[in-house]
Amino acid sequence: MKVAVIGTGYVGLVTGVVLAQLGNDVICVDKDQEKVEKLKQGIPPIYEPGIEEMLKQGLKDGFLKISNSIQEATEASEVVFIAVGTPPAEDGTPDLTAVRAVANEIAKHIKKYTVIVNKSTVPVGSGDMVENIILSHGVDSSLFDVVSNPEFLREGSAIHDTLHPDRIVIGAKRRDAAVRLVELYATLQAPMIVTDLNSAELIKYGANSFLAMKISFINAMSRVCELCSANVADVAAGIGSDKRIGNQFLNAGLGWGGSCFPKDVQGMVKVSEDLGYDFGLLKEVIQINEDQTHHFLGRLEKRLGGFAGKKIALMGLAFKANTDDIRDAKSLVIIGEVLAKGGSIVAYDMVAEENVRQQYPNIEYVSNVYELSKDADALIVVTEWNEFKQLDLERLGQGMKQKVLFDGRRIYDRAKAERAGFEFFTIGSV
Ligand code: UGA
Repeated sequence: MKVAVIGTGYVGLVTGVVLAQLGNDVICVDKDQEKVEKLKQGIPPIYEPGIEEMLKQGLKDGFLKISNSIQEATEASEVVFIAVGTPPAEDGTPDLTAVRAVANEIAKHIKKYTVIVNKSTVPVGSGDMVENIILSHGVDSSLFDVVSNPEFLREGSAIHDTLHPDRIVIGAKRRDAAVRLVELYATLQAPMIVTDLNSAELIKYGANSFLAMKISFINAMSRVCELCSANVADVAAGIGSDKRIGNQFLNAGLGWGGSCFPKDVQGMVKVSEDLGYDFGLLKEVIQINEDQTHHFLGRLEKRLGGFAGKKIALMGLAFKANTDDIRDAKSLVIIGEVLAKGGSIVAYDMVAEENVRQQYPNIEYVSNVYELSKDADALIVVTEWNEFKQLDLERLGQGMKQKVLFDGRRIYDRAKAERAGFEFFTIGSV
């Protein structure tokens, strides 16, 4: 099939390279010329395992083209994906400026029947909004359909998630349009949920809100565990082995971050509010998430007798492992609070360092994790990078002023850490 993907962020680029690998003729479009030039040379603008190889392969095989022209892409394609960003505005509503701009541009170039697919995460009613924009350009309604096809990929395993989805959701007003997408995805052999536009849009917000709720639930449980000397890992295993609950997304930690959950849970609250429903449950989910990092930092502050004059070493900066993304990363909350209270920071994250450096050019960065310990008063595990799990803990602690280890991602075994001479603190167990 001939496919255009407008926007080469996480969702757009991964969708584009995967569809090209499946043998479709794909044109990926971005308005950022620098990005376009790099992509043409096979250099992806994001860090994501496997993407560079797939991008290069697609370009080499000729199934993938990169362009800055929505006109060229629309005219050449039967299916046009909108995969541009929808960042949260001040009030939590997703900002649809980019989606509107792209819809206006696509509308100008529709010459034959085209399916316009919304892949960006958008509030209920956005499909209708895109349809109205296209109609406002005088395009006949028989020449196009708008379909909602939300994305469920995770950063760090985006290619795998796109090739092996749990389900594909397709929301459309007319069955014919949905069938086009069913055909496009047929080779993936995934369960397909074909529904109306509004339901598809709600599924995306609902899924992310539910997952965030699961994490906030176990983090709230971790607080109770700390108060009664229970172990949250065992509690999570026990709860999660009930198939109706499931054992995934029950890892207690510093809380959820990233480019999706914070935006989408907030978006769900706002969308509900606009429709006349106060989704108090989700407001609490957000509150628990914010409290979690502050509670953890409070324990460290108490142990150190304040942060003033103390050097805090951060293991990891990315919002989770296998990504350089630092949007809503807990590292930023920790850095902000420690600096504000007179402490200093030394940090290690080979992948995400550059992004944090742009916000905090004056904190200390090291390029070897073992260099973190020099004169540090405490080590904090902020990101669950695999390399941290294999470290020689005795060596890690050498040179510290105080051998205090705060494990914010529960990657270390208490006995092992204590054998290495650490005073060990973790989440959800004493
Ligand atoms: C999330 C969803 O998992 C995807 O299905 C969805 O497509 C994506 O958002 C999106 O809307 O685009 P992502 O943000 O990449 O994916 O990351 P996750 O792996 O879901 O992790 C989110 C946050 O939850 C991270 O901060 C992670 O550390 C935290 N987390 C996750 C926990 O604290 N505990 C867990 O058990 C799982």
